[in-house]
Amino acid sequence: MKLLIFCDPGIDDALALIYALLHPEIEVLGLVCSYGNVDKITAANNAAHILQLAGRMDIPIFNGAEMPVSGELANYYPEIHGEDGIGPIKVKKGTYQFRIHNLGEVFDIINRNKDVVIADLGRSTTLAACFLLNREVMGKVKELHLMGGAFMVPGNVTPVAEANFFGDPTSTNLLLSHGKKVFLTPLNVTQKAIITNEYGEALEYYSKNRFKDIYIPIIKFYAKAYSKLVPGMDGAPFHDLLTIYSVAHPQRMQYLAKKVHVVVEGKTRGKSFADFRHMDSDDESKHHIALGFDYEHFLQEIFQNLTRPI
Ligand code: BDR
Ligand code: CA
Repeated sequence: MKLLIFCDPGIDDALALIYALLHPEIEVLGLVCSYGNVDKITAANNAAHILQLAGRMDIPIFNGAEMPVSGELANYYPEIHGEDGIGPIKVKKGTYQFRIHNLGEVFDIINRNKDVVIADLGRSTTLAACFLLNREVMGKVKELHLMGGAFMVPGNVTPVAEANFFGDPTSTNLLLSHGKKVFLTPLNVTQKAIITNEYGEALEYYSKNRFKDIYIPIIKFYAKAYSKLVPGMDGAPFHDLLTIYSVAHPQRMQYLAKKVHVVVEGKTRGKSFADFRHMDSDDESKHHIALGFDYEHFLQEIFQNLTRPI
């Protein structure tokens, strides 16, 4: 599968990228780095660190947005992801020499490859900009997979909204209306994609790759941050990791097709809506909302890939 990833690494983005890079059936075509958990330069720097560890500096990093379309300045979340985005790991700017490609080059990638799938693990702004700039080429994208939204549970940045959809709800709605087929992994499902410290220790022990030294620091940092939010919680939810897993293993996910809309303004900004009065799929809908997944398989599959030798 040919995959373009829009991201804002971010601890859970980082593990998601590593999983995608190590997955034998995923070919990562590029990483588009935007504001979100950190500013876009830091996000690109973190992405470069991961590509370097993977020995894949040939994968292009693209220039994403630095703020939402509303023009307001972005909020970052150092209390969850650390000042520099990947917990205690500091990637000094300038450590890696890499070119940040113009966003327009994404269209060449989509034109050159058949059936490109896009996963968006961050705010929707940059991906929406791609639709604004070249709707015809974006129409060739086979599927969009968005980590975002929160249905039937509290949000994480407001009582009702999840961070990615809250960040730029106008852009999210644009993706929902123009994406050919859109899959959502919302917060109420990704919250169950828990990785514990113990799991991190096993990852380190069994890994035969250059990522092994970062598993424990980032997982422990993230788990500590979550334990402050949810006292007694063992581990932390790796939202973006589940989203990439869902791309690779759709048969292990349960989806319901329903039209989704996101509130753009006011107290409920970022809240995602779908009509759940009848729990049957709407055949007309091109939106597919994840309701659940096979957690046991997720753990095994993630383990197998994150420990893979490279
Ligand atoms: C989403 O927001 C970010 O903090 C995470 O990386 C994830 O993409 C969860 O709400
Ligand atoms: Ca993210």
